[in-house]
Amino acid sequence: MGDIAAVHKRSIEDRDGFWTEVAEGVDWIKKWDRILDDSGAPHFYRWYPGAECNTCWNTVDRHVEAGHGDRNAIIYDSPITGRQRKISYAELLDKVSRCAGMLTALGIEKGDRVIIYMPMIPQAVVSMLACARIGAVHSVVFGGFAPNELATRIKDAAPKAILTASCGLEPGRVIPYKPLLDDALDLAPGIVENVVVVARDEAEWELQAGRDHDWKSAMEAAAPADCVPVASTDPLYILYTSGTTGEPKGVVRDNGGHMAALKWSMKNVYDIDEGEVYWAASDVGWVVGHSYIVYAPLLHGCTTILFEGKPVGTPDAGTFWRVISEHGVSCLFTAPTAFRAIKKEDPEGTFIGKYDISCLRTLFLAGERCDPDTLYWAEEKLGVPVIDHWWQTETGWPMASNCLGIEPLPVKAGSPTRAVPGYDVQVLDDQMNEVPRGEMGAICVKLPMPPSCLPTLWNADQRFIDSYLADYPGYYKTGDAGYMDEDDYIYVMSRTDDIINVAGHRLSTGAMEEVLAGHQDVAECAVIGVADQLKGQLPMGFMVLKAGVDKDPSEIVKEVVALVRAQIGPVAAFKLATVVKRLPKTRSGKILRGTMASIADGKEYKMPATIDDPVILDEITESLQSIGYPKG
Ligand code: COA
Ligand code: AMP
Repeated sequence: MGDIAAVHKRSIEDRDGFWTEVAEGVDWIKKWDRILDDSGAPHFYRWYPGAECNTCWNTVDRHVEAGHGDRNAIIYDSPITGRQRKISYAELLDKVSRCAGMLTALGIEKGDRVIIYMPMIPQAVVSMLACARIGAVHSVVFGGFAPNELATRIKDAAPKAILTASCGLEPGRVIPYKPLLDDALDLAPGIVENVVVVARDEAEWELQAGRDHDWKSAMEAAAPADCVPVASTDPLYILYTSGTTGEPKGVVRDNGGHMAALKWSMKNVYDIDEGEVYWAASDVGWVVGHSYIVYAPLLHGCTTILFEGKPVGTPDAGTFWRVISEHGVSCLFTAPTAFRAIKKEDPEGTFIGKYDISCLRTLFLAGERCDPDTLYWAEEKLGVPVIDHWWQTETGWPMASNCLGIEPLPVKAGSPTRAVPGYDVQVLDDQMNEVPRGEMGAICVKLPMPPSCLPTLWNADQRFIDSYLADYPGYYKTGDAGYMDEDDYIYVMSRTDDIINVAGHRLSTGAMEEVLAGHQDVAECAVIGVADQLKGQLPMGFMVLKAGVDKDPSEIVKEVVALVRAQIGPVAAFKLATVVKRLPKTRSGKILRGTMASIADGKEYKMPATIDDPVILDEITESLQSIGYPKG
C-alpha cells in the first residue's frame, strides 16, 4: 500500500513527473512535446500538447490486440424489457468500426459534432466510441429532457447528425423519442443533416425521407472504419450541464488528459483490476455515465454493466443485488438517492439476503451529499466499505475521494475524504484567504486543474472565465461551499449558486424561474430547492400573479407544472408550486430565496437585517403550510 499524502504532495509539487507516469497507462500514437501547456495561463491550460492518440483505440482495439477479444466488454441488463446481452471486446470492435464507417458515409469528419439522444442501450455506447474513433465530437443528451432543451443543445453544438432510438422506457411507460426529436429539430431547423434511428420493438417510428436512416440497415451497409489520430487536446465530447441561467453550459472534454486520468483512477481510486466487472448505475446522459459506464472501465479492460432499469420497481428493491450476483460485480457506483429509494422499499434489506453478493468489494456514492443515515445503512446491510466521493460534470472524475488503491483512509460520515491527487483543493473566504479548519468557505481548486477537467466551455471561452475563474483569480471555483477538517477531510455542504440536486441530477432553479416567468398570469416568481427524504432536494415554485388575474391559483399551479415538464423535461421533477401575494426581498430588491428555503424545510432562520418587509415571511409560511410544508 502507498502513502496517499505523499502521492498527493508529489502530484502537486512534481506535476510533470507524476502525470508523465500516469500517461504511461495508455497508448499514444505520438508522445507529447510537454506535459502541460500553460501559455494561456491564468485561464487556459492544455494537457499533453503535441501528443496524438485515439480514445477508441485505448478503450477497444487495444484489448483485442492484447488477446482479450473474448472478454465481455459490455453486459446489457434491462429488467425493464427482460433483455440481456453480453458483448465481447471483439464484438464491440466490430460494431464500433462499422458505426464509425456509417458516420463517415454520412459525411461526418474529424471535429464534426454528433448528438446522441438514446436510452441505456448498447448502441448508445457504440455511438460514443464510434465518434471517438473518427475524431468526431459527441454530445449525449439525457432522455429525460424536453425537446426545447434538446433544441438548445442542437443550436449550440451544431451537430451534423443525431443518433437516436425509437423510444426510451420508464417503468410502465414507453417514451417515444422520435417525436421529441422531431419537435426539437423543428425548433432548431437547418442544422442537422442526418438522423439515424435504432428501431426498438416497443415503438414504431416515422421516417422522414432524405434525412432519417434506419440504424440496422445503415450499419449493415457500412464498411468498417479505422481509428483516426487526434491531438491529445482535441475535444472528445461536449456534455451540457446546468448553469446559473437557462442556457446550459457545454463542458468540453479532451482526449489525452481524459484518458490518462480516468485510466489511472480505476486502480488508484476504485481499486479495480483489469478484467473485473464494474458497474456504475447511472445513465450515459450524465457525466458519471460518460466516465464510469463507458470510458474508464473500458480503458481499464473491465466489463461494464449497462443497466436499463431503476433501483426499485424494476421489478423490486432487489434488482441491484440480482445484477451484482448474476454478473459478478466487484464495485458498484451510484447516487445516494438510489440507496434511499431501496431503503424506503426494503428497510430491513431482506432482498439482499436472497442473493449471493460476496463478489462485491466496494460501494462508491456520488452526485449529491451522502447523508450519514444512508451511508450507515449501506455499510451495515452490504458489509463492504461505502465510499462517498465528490465530483462534477466539469471535472469528469473525482476531486475528493478515499483512494482505495493507494491507501484506504478511515471513513468519516458526511465527508468524501481528501482531495484526490492532482487537485489542490482549498477553502477560501471572499478575500481569497484560506479559512481556518472547520470554517465554511468557497471550495476552490488552485490552477491548473488536473487532466480530464474542462479546458473551456464549447464556443464560450469568456463564459468559462466568468463562470469559474473570475471570482477567485488563480483558482477554479467549484460552486460548492463547505469546510475542511484538521485531517484535510473535505465536507461539501451546499451550493453557492442556484443549482439544486434532485435525485442526483443537477438542475438550475434559474432555468425553472425562466419557465414560470413565461406564464401569462405570472408577474414575478422564485424557485428554490426544498429538502426531500428520497430525492435529496425538490424544486418548489412561488408565484406572484399579475394584477387583475382572478383564475383559481390551483389551475395556475397545474399549468406551470405542465410548462416545466414540457420545456425542461420530466427529469426536473417540478411538482410543487404555490401562489403568494408577494415575495420576500431585501431593500435592494434581491429575493430572499435562502430564507424561503429555511421556512420550507422547517429550519431556524435569522431575520435578514436587510429585509424590506418582514410580514411577507408570515405570508410565505402560511402559503407553505397550505401545501403541507414544512414536512412532519
Ligand atoms: N427519459 C424520459 N423520462 C425520464 C427519463 C428518461 N431517460 N429518466 C427519468 N425520466 C422521468 C421519470 O419517468 C420521472 O417522471 P415522472 O415525473 O412522470 O415520474 C421523472 O423523469 C423523474 O425521474 P427520476 O429522477 O428517475 O425519478 P423517479 O421518481 O422515477 O425515480 C429514483 C427516483 C431515486 C429511483 C431515481 O431517481 C434513481 O434511480 N436515481 C439514481 C440516481 C442516478 O442515476 N443518478 C445519476 C447520477 S450518479
Ligand atoms: P454534476 O455536475 O451533475 O455531477 O453535479 C455536481 C455537483 O453535485 C457538485 O458540484 C456538488 O454540488 C454535488 N455533488 C456531487 N458529488 C457530491 C458529494 N459526494 N457530496 C456532496 N455534493 C456532491
